[in-house]
Amino acid sequence: MRLNDVFGLAVFATAAVAEHIPFDHILWGTQGPAGNHLEKRATSTSSTSTRVPDAVCTNSPSSRNCWSAGYSVATDFDKKWPSIGVTTRYYNWEITNGTCNPDGGPSKQCQLINGKYPGPVLSANWGDTVVVTLKNSLTANGTGIHWHGIRQLNTVLQDGVPGITECPLAPGDTKTYTWKATQFGSTWYHSHWSAQYGDGVFGPIVINGPASANYDIDLGPLTVNDWYYKTSYQMALIAHNNLQARTPPPPADNLLVNGTGKSANGGSYWNVPNLVPGKKYRLRLINTATDNSIRVSLDNHPFLVINADLVPIQPYTTNWVLLTTGQRYDVVFTANQTAGNYWFRAQVANDCASANNGVGRAIFSYQGVAAADPTSTAAAVTVGPGFSTCRDPNNLTPWVVNTVDSQTFLNQVTNLEVNLAVQNVTTNGQNIVVWAVNLTGIDVAWDKPTAKYVKSGDTNYPRVLNLIEIPNENTWSYWIIQETANSPVPIPHPIHLHGHDFYVLGSGVGTFDKNSSPAGMTFNNPIRRDTAILPGNGWLALAFPSDNPGAWLMHCHIAWHVSDGLAVQFLESKSTMPLPDQSWEDTCSRWYTYQQTMPYPKSDSGLRLM
Ligand SMILES: *[C@@H]1O[C@H](CO)[C@@H](O)[C@H](O)[C@H]1NC(C)=O
Ligand SMILES: *[C@@H]1O[C@H](CO)[C@@H](O)[C@H](O)[C@H]1NC(C)=O
Ligand SMILES: *[C@@H]1O[C@H](CO)[C@@H](O)[C@H](O)[C@H]1NC(C)=O
Ligand SMILES: *[C@@H]1O[C@H](CO)[C@@H](O)[C@H](O)[C@H]1NC(C)=O
Ligand SMILES: *[C@@H]1O[C@H](CO)[C@@H](O)[C@H](O)[C@H]1NC(C)=O
Ligand SMILES: *[C@@H]1O[C@H](CO)[C@@H](O)[C@H](O)[C@H]1NC(C)=O
Repeated sequence: MRLNDVFGLAVFATAAVAEHIPFDHILWGTQGPAGNHLEKRATSTSSTSTRVPDAVCTNSPSSRNCWSAGYSVATDFDKKWPSIGVTTRYYNWEITNGTCNPDGGPSKQCQLINGKYPGPVLSANWGDTVVVTLKNSLTANGTGIHWHGIRQLNTVLQDGVPGITECPLAPGDTKTYTWKATQFGSTWYHSHWSAQYGDGVFGPIVINGPASANYDIDLGPLTVNDWYYKTSYQMALIAHNNLQARTPPPPADNLLVNGTGKSANGGSYWNVPNLVPGKKYRLRLINTATDNSIRVSLDNHPFLVINADLVPIQPYTTNWVLLTTGQRYDVVFTANQTAGNYWFRAQVANDCASANNGVGRAIFSYQGVAAADPTSTAAAVTVGPGFSTCRDPNNLTPWVVNTVDSQTFLNQVTNLEVNLAVQNVTTNGQNIVVWAVNLTGIDVAWDKPTAKYVKSGDTNYPRVLNLIEIPNENTWSYWIIQETANSPVPIPHPIHLHGHDFYVLGSGVGTFDKNSSPAGMTFNNPIRRDTAILPGNGWLALAFPSDNPGAWLMHCHIAWHVSDGLAVQFLESKSTMPLPDQSWEDTCSRWYTYQQTMPYPKSDSGLRLM
């Protein structure tokens, strides 16, 4: 038996029932999804109310707000993106089995794209079409690539989620993903099959576009992530077993910056050379971890934060930024210090229940200075403005102003309870502890993705699909992700939504109170992003407009947690959702064939219990 999941979309047996760990589960009446969505979508006042019009001007170091004729940082990117002067970017990727040791420590079995850890940088301009042909050259694993934060407007079947939007690619199979970059900034791609990305199937995505502050040089992406000497599959199993005993997963072994790091046995730190005095540099910070939340800082060089999760924001200055897994911040710093070497620091955020035995470092060196271990000192760590512990900053103000409808909030808002639950896996008769949302840990079927239900008109969704229907377009839906009061594991979770950005109406510690909390909530230009922190022992209030038909996962981005069930899927406007074509079905046929003889058949998987 083995852990057999879709990067967490835990595949237990198909017939499972849930039973809750005793808790006070009725906070206030939840409403079924069907009647909840009566409201119109966001009204945007972007182009007229912000400082930069959609003018004809050219992007340059002194005019980063411009992009091209009619497009700027003030463009409402929900409604339009460049269609002239754009191109198609082609990539050919092959995933192979190999080994890697990015910190010079023990070598482990890795799964690599084009032989690289991490995978290649995918780069495109705003409005471009991206075409990635992916070959699965693994012999004993399926795969599928998800494009984190990419809207996939009317292209849900390119979202790359096995068991929801596609069947996995069987060994030997090839699939072409095609999507459009309708937003700009920094993000990443990763395998959504099992815990595979932790062993190397991930990489940065850069989408060039306008920005809310000027800079001279774009240094490109800088990923930060935890590193384990055991494989991700082994780690997911250990984390699962620990969960049964309510103990935390083991600490990571190291922290990597841009895919490299140093250990007792060797390795080296990433070096950014040749900083020119007086120049302004852009960095694209991306947390690609499986578990760790990470704070980053560059000694003596404060960051001007300009973009959060593909959303340009009003710039603000800070010494440290906290990124939970899946989050991104684009920052600008000025090379105006004494020429020398400076530490870039990545450190584990223990206040987010993360743990790591290593430290992440990179060395930033001025022009003419040979790279050497810096003697610079760290700025004092700051937590999000107004908070003392693991929280997103509450001052992220989107450049393009949107308003969420507040009138319908109270009537339509629905609770999604996050808690541990005991789930009965009927194939092996065991009861296991899972991360549940509304009492159920998700359990998708690789050979019967949600898209197949929609195509065949089958509405007999098993409860374990955690499927929530949003029947119509042009409505708002509101969700309170609530950690159950007295949860045995009251820790923060990074919540990520596919196919949409969400608006963060509020968050807090304790139990959301429908009658008093709305007073402290933001409906006018709230934080907009695709990954946000659910505070430990707290709540997170999200809203998004239905404007993209499809089946969209919303999950905790800690690989071990989604592995153990912490996810739901929204089936939005299924009557207008794009349906599978022959080539999609062919991928499934090849998968069925492979599944008959795969070395880790689902029938003896479920979650490994002992
Ligand atoms: C939560 O589960 C109950 C029981 O199955 C179900 O009736 C309800 O619709 C679920 N809530 C949501 C938001 O799906
Ligand atoms: C993958 O590579 C590892 C390390 O080289 C090796 O031990 C393992 O047998 C390989 N697995 C397959 C299925 O080729
Ligand atoms: C994927 O491959 C790894 C390493 O070969 C193995 O441990 C794991 O069980 C495989 N997963 C699946 C789902 O086949
Ligand atoms: C990180 O690595 C990628 C891939 O090699 C490179 O393109 C990028 O510029 C590096 N980032 C920095 C800040 O050096
Ligand atoms: C360096 O640039 C920052 C802005 O990034 C500014 O706040 C600071 O005053 C500058 N320091 C010097 C010594 O010029
Ligand atoms: C688990 O499910 C089986 C089959 O439905 C049932 O017979 C058994 O009583 C259940 N066990 C628990 C503890 O719910």
